[in-house]
Amino acid sequence: MNAALSASKPRWPLRLARRAVSPALFDFWATRVNRLWTLEQPLARLVSRTAASRDAVTLVFRPNGHWAGMSAGQHVNIGVTIGGRRLVRSYSPTPLADGTLAITVKAIDGGRVSTYLARDARVGEIISLDPAFGAMTLAAAGDDLLLLAAGSGITPMRALLRDLAARGMPRNVDLFYWARQQDELCFVDELQALAAAHPRLRVHFLLTREGTTPAVRVDQTSFDAVSALDQRRVLACGPGGFVEAARARLDGQVASFEAEAFSLPAATGMEEAGEVDVHLARSGRTLKLSRNQSLLEGLEAQGVRPAHGCRMGICNSCACERQTGTTRHLLTGDRSSEPSTQLRLCVSAPTTDLILDL
Ligand SMILES: Cc1cc2nc3c(=O)[nH]c(=O)nc-3n(C[C@H](O)[C@H](O)[C@H](O)COP(=O)(O)OP(=O)(O)OC[C@H]3O[C@@H](n4cnc5c(N)ncnc54)[C@H](O)[C@@H]3O)c2cc1C
Ligand code: FES
Repeated sequence: MNAALSASKPRWPLRLARRAVSPALFDFWATRVNRLWTLEQPLARLVSRTAASRDAVTLVFRPNGHWAGMSAGQHVNIGVTIGGRRLVRSYSPTPLADGTLAITVKAIDGGRVSTYLARDARVGEIISLDPAFGAMTLAAAGDDLLLLAAGSGITPMRALLRDLAARGMPRNVDLFYWARQQDELCFVDELQALAAAHPRLRVHFLLTREGTTPAVRVDQTSFDAVSALDQRRVLACGPGGFVEAARARLDGQVASFEAEAFSLPAATGMEEAGEVDVHLARSGRTLKLSRNQSLLEGLEAQGVRPAHGCRMGICNSCACERQTGTTRHLLTGDRSSEPSTQLRLCVSAPTTDLILDL
């Protein structure tokens, strides 16, 4: 029997169960028999762990049958329970041929989920998966690519490169991959082997704190080695500061630029002081929140737990209606005051008093 209890055409007991009990109640009892049995929720079991670099580990998960799959380059919100509390974070898996997902996690100092996954999670552990999201995927045919990655931003690039290699590398691709030191790089042997096997792929490793002449950061990088730069589709992934520096460096010089940041940029000096009143229309509560913090973080600090996933404005899990008031987008700095408009709590800070549909 499929350990997921999840065939796309469920047998009659499952159809009956769907009518008779809530998914939460069903899952509560079914997971006591088999930890991957659920009515609807995709879960996955950790089946192996391998060191990927000095501070990163590749975890391979086998999903249950509710997992709907993903395209290379997409991300997944995963839920883990740490100290009795469920925490959700985004990761960028590489889908493997046997149906498993390889997730490479870099341990962030002080990070709750990354240090847990990288150091403590044991084979057999169960995580939850949400549907895959993200737009940095490959069409069957398309432009030549320039891939830019820093730190754990290499993870979606690895998935894209494996996908392209499986299709015979149908376009020119240059990967620029920055790390501080050699032992922080992931997938070195694999990337070199791909480049050796596919002449249209060129891989450039850039170490900013090692070697007689350390590599420069993206804002000072010459892309002279990239043929026909102006015709490249650029995909960039890494910390917020890296992504913004890459965008500025290549502005107007490439065919298109898409980026997904894994963390918010460092303080810009454009922050706003003071607090505002944020009224939550559904619960009737009014809270004082800082103008200098995302609504998601401010609400969490006051014990409110809105739905969320990536915390970077990509997955839309935290979408919520702003009924009145003005907010500032933390990535672009843009202000918005249109009443009855959807915003994303994770990348919006309050500028004036607000009413939220929460
Ligand atoms: C779409 C998307 C895909 C991602 N894919 C991957 C992936 O494949 N592999 C991977 O290792 N990570 C990935 N991340 C980052 C991941 O979601 C977490 O942010 C990261 O693991 C840290 O979580 P934490 O719970 O350990 O840190 P938290 O406890 O949430 O934060 C602790 C401290 O670390 C800082 N911080 C949080 N995230 C980062 C970060 N990424 N870099 C630097 N500082 C940070 C916070 O500002 C905070 O000060 C991705 C993020 C996004 C948005
Ligand atoms: S949590 Fe993903 S968009 Fe806000």
